Amino acid sequence: TPAPAKNAVSAKPGPFTVETVLEVKHYTDRLFSFRLTRPAAFRFRSGEFVMIGLPKEDGKPLLRAYSIASPFWDEALDFYSIKVADGPLTSRLQHIQPGDEVLLGRKPTGTLVLDALKPGKRLYMISTGTGIAPFASLIRDPETYEKFDEVILTHTCRQLDELTYGEELVAATKQDELIGEMAREKLVHFTSVTRDDGPVKGRVTDMIRSGELATRLGVPALDPTVDRVMICGSEGLLKDVKQICLDANFIEGSNAAPADFVIEKAFVSTD
Ligand code: A2P
Repeated sequence: TPAPAKNAVSAKPGPFTVETVLEVKHYTDRLFSFRLTRPAAFRFRSGEFVMIGLPKEDGKPLLRAYSIASPFWDEALDFYSIKVADGPLTSRLQHIQPGDEVLLGRKPTGTLVLDALKPGKRLYMISTGTGIAPFASLIRDPETYEKFDEVILTHTCRQLDELTYGEELVAATKQDELIGEMAREKLVHFTSVTRDDGPVKGRVTDMIRSGELATRLGVPALDPTVDRVMICGSEGLLKDVKQICLDANFIEGSNAAPADFVIEKAFVSTD
């Protein structure tokens, strides 16, 4: 095929599409979720993130990375977000209503994907705050259950009411027509809070190190020969769980070189 003429008009589409808000749900004064229309050509792997945004006053887009929280087989796209009162994006995004328009990037990407992990028996998904979002997608992917015998989703938040999103998600997943049976058999949901009095109180990192998590779940200590770990949350969580993994001789994986654990920062910015 001949090379296109240098001055040919580019037919390349822009980096974003304009999508419509279908649903908004507020969980606390700091947390909300929203559902957007999904372009027919939009493909992603469970666990990936994409740019989401709104046009600024000057018309230019203001964008942030958001993990896709819906399963790949869903007809629309779900996202789970914090609200930051003076955050350039979330101060506005928290007010969206059904019918409003939101910008969606065309190219989802990320390392929190099954492809970046070697085969194993037990998959840990360790999250804090909105870091549960990519796992909301992964726990509804049949491949997760085809690849692992046991899937342990941990979610730690400051307060009890911040666990609601995950509790509703896991309950719905276990009732789901497509994935329910596999999830009921293999998915374990472990929650803790750090600043409220809850049934389980404490940071997941402390509970891994002390052995409390293993005892509560009835599983052996982390073992790189059988366990795989995905981590999503604040920078501090990533750093600390990564160190726990490295101390246990786990190797960090990537799309190019699958290994034992993968990490991704959640959108918990001061945005
Ligand atoms: P803590 O209350 O002890 O800081 P945030 O809202 O700041 O993102 O925190 C969400 C949850 O993650 C909180 O329960 C918080 O506990 C916990 N957390 C924050 N940093 C770490 C860390 N480095 N290791 C483990 N848990 C953490």
